[in-house]
Amino acid sequence: MEKTFIMIKPDGVQRNLVGEIIGRFEKKGFTLKGLKLINVDHAFAEKHYEDLSKKPFFNGLVEYIVSGPVVAMIWEGKNVVLTGRKIIGATNPSDSAPGTIRGDFAVEIGRNVIHGSDSVESAQKEIALWFPDGPVNWQSSLHSWIYE
Ligand code: PPS
Repeated sequence: MEKTFIMIKPDGVQRNLVGEIIGRFEKKGFTLKGLKLINVDHAFAEKHYEDLSKKPFFNGLVEYIVSGPVVAMIWEGKNVVLTGRKIIGATNPSDSAPGTIRGDFAVEIGRNVIHGSDSVESAQKEIALWFPDGPVNWQSSLHSWIYE
């Protein structure tokens, strides 16, 4: 089953949005397969965002991610990468629809609360970086109520 990497960024943690965000993924029907609250250092944040290293906002983005603890998660489910991005909303909160996480809780791009993998390939790379021991192996008893 497909997996994605989701991170609640430092502003989401500081603003007490952790429960709200986890609830949205749970209520959709996705399964939590990994979870940790963690402070990352500059080298780790730079590695996570290495594809963006030439962008003018790169240093600011790294400083933002190291500014406080983040919640790193693995979520599993059918089409969870794409659907997770829809739950999160557009990158710039000015463009994020109401009902999405960023549409409901964020105002500007440099404080957009949450990260979600943008492809299955990125998800695999990000899960390997953040969860070297891999996902927790379990299956929800609700599985047959969510999938036909
Ligand atoms: S780009 O330029 O198209 O590659 O960027 P994009 O795909 O829109 O976003 C990639 C991540 O960079 C973050 N981002 C920013 N952070 C701070 N300031 C500015 N101006 C900015 N622009 C983009 C954006 O939130 C994405 O982070 P994640 O964590 O992947 O959502």
